[in-house]
Amino acid sequence: MNFPRYRLRRLRKDDLFRRMFRETQLRPDDFILPLFVRPGKGVKQPISSMPGNFQLSIDLLIKEVKEAKSLGILGVLLFGIPDKKDEMGSEGYADDGIVQRAVRSIKEKVDGMIVVTDVCLCEYTSHGHCGVVRDGRVINDETLELLSRQALSHAAAGADIIAPSDMMDGRVGAIRKTLDENRLEDVPIMAYAAKFASSFYGPFREAAESKPQFGDRKAYQMDPANGDEAIREVELDIAEGADIVMVKPALPYLDIIYRVKKTFNRPLAAYNVSGEFSMVKAASQLGWMDGELAMMESLTAIRRAGADLLITYFAKEAARKLVKFQ
Ligand code: PBG
Repeated sequence: MNFPRYRLRRLRKDDLFRRMFRETQLRPDDFILPLFVRPGKGVKQPISSMPGNFQLSIDLLIKEVKEAKSLGILGVLLFGIPDKKDEMGSEGYADDGIVQRAVRSIKEKVDGMIVVTDVCLCEYTSHGHCGVVRDGRVINDETLELLSRQALSHAAAGADIIAPSDMMDGRVGAIRKTLDENRLEDVPIMAYAAKFASSFYGPFREAAESKPQFGDRKAYQMDPANGDEAIREVELDIAEGADIVMVKPALPYLDIIYRVKKTFNRPLAAYNVSGEFSMVKAASQLGWMDGELAMMESLTAIRRAGADLLITYFAKEAARKLVKFQ
């Protein structure tokens, strides 16, 4: 392939050419919109670090889910903010917990939406860690028990996909076993398999009120420096029965997304996390870059790296743009 015989600019000369030869497509079908639900009625509490995102009570959550559906989005990912927190995160696995009630309500009122639930204790514990804490440490095996109860209560309420995000060892296997024993063998698990201890979760912790009250999450979430270990995490989760694996965050970890897809060729989700969203919004508000272009470029890059599903706070905005475009 030599110049001047070959000129790669020939196929990118105008918009029609660029569209025809575009290798990576974005579709609303591939988006999952994360939503935050809290008790109450008529509550729509803005999340200041994530413009356009809110903590919603169930009545308004239903409206939001319907709107997402009207834009062609097929999935939502639910996070709960309970009224009270305790040491053991008991609201997380209560049958009438906020997420359990929200799932039931969506299933009753909206057709054709895949409801994914985040399984983790950090939003429900008073200390803000993702499991049972003793002597300042999160105890792995005791946490598995609680996560399994939480997963079971979500699935029993009608959740379509269970997504554990806690990063305890063995939780996918424990949850799979519990679901199977309760005749919920058809409910898939989307494992936050390679989840890094990331500064990019900052805005989310305001949104979900889940900041750890002491220390950090580095003893369970992964070291950002480790790529080979990410492969081992994914391998284990698949062995334990994960149907879909996830890499999180997305943009700083495109190499991991690429390696995971190439190595395992399994359904792969990438979580374009709160900090990735907020950076684009902040820069755009300051007039430092074009937020819409940055949004579409980010999502396209994550797909190009190998992700099948994009979990993103941009889901509605991007879907709107794609609809307009077609
Ligand atoms: C924890 C959880 C987190 C996110 C999803 N699930 C935060 C954390 O691990 O501290 C982050 C999502 C985001 O930043 O958008 N259960």
